[in-house]
Amino acid sequence: MASTPEIRVSSDRHSWAATAAELVHSVGREALREKGQFFIALSGGATPALLYEALTSPVFAGRFDWSRSTFFFGDERCVPPDDSRSNYALANQALFIPLNIGPSQVCRMVGESRDQQAATADYEQQLRRATNTAAPAQPQLDLILLGLGEDGHTASLFPGSPILRDRENVIAVTQSPKGPPARLTMTLGVINRASVVLFLVAGASKAGVVSTILNPKIEADRQLPASLVAPDEGRLIWLLDPASAAGLSRDRVSMIVRED
Ligand code: 6PG
Repeated sequence: MASTPEIRVSSDRHSWAATAAELVHSVGREALREKGQFFIALSGGATPALLYEALTSPVFAGRFDWSRSTFFFGDERCVPPDDSRSNYALANQALFIPLNIGPSQVCRMVGESRDQQAATADYEQQLRRATNTAAPAQPQLDLILLGLGEDGHTASLFPGSPILRDRENVIAVTQSPKGPPARLTMTLGVINRASVVLFLVAGASKAGVVSTILNPKIEADRQLPASLVAPDEGRLIWLLDPASAAGLSRDRVSMIVRED
């Protein structure tokens, strides 16, 4: 049974980033307590840079032991890993290198592969090995971070894509209406298996789509990719800043009050 989304709104961008970092650490500590390792999937696009800046800041950098964590990606553009459009490239420069996270702890989607289907199968096997999950069960990650596009896409799951109905496969090749077109993405099958799914959304440009997803008016709204993210047993958390939450009624959200 899908849980009710927890909608949290920060007081400003700084508070948003600090709260995002604290949430990541909190889920990580719980995973380490429960099973001695932490599996986290990073989201793509530009928004995660705010989180990475917080996680690598003096306030947070020493607060969490990343040595037993493995990083995955919710999606990747089909470009080389050093391409500025690569989700890995941002994470590597802004998170892995500053936190001394080595290659053995990072499971990169090989977006640049000439055989994209083989790359999806390979990534699925890496997820299955890491989580010790045999098919057809879906691998369970501790935390999956997601962004939100203005059209309601998340990861590289775009509106109207047939992949939205796919709950068997773990990783799929999709086409994006914006560049770069070809993408590798986690499917809703593995996303909805996660223990915690955390949407990280900020900026006024997202206010409309946030309201559409969290206050759907018509069935089409409920069929948008981000609307279909509903963890089977896990928690669903939306972390918004005031600008992206502008379209929500105050009774739907919990305001974050920070002391720092
Ligand atoms: C990608 C992402 C995508 C992203 C949203 C939001 O690879 O582009 O996975 O789902 O999270 O498009 O992107 P911004 O954070 O840049 O607004």
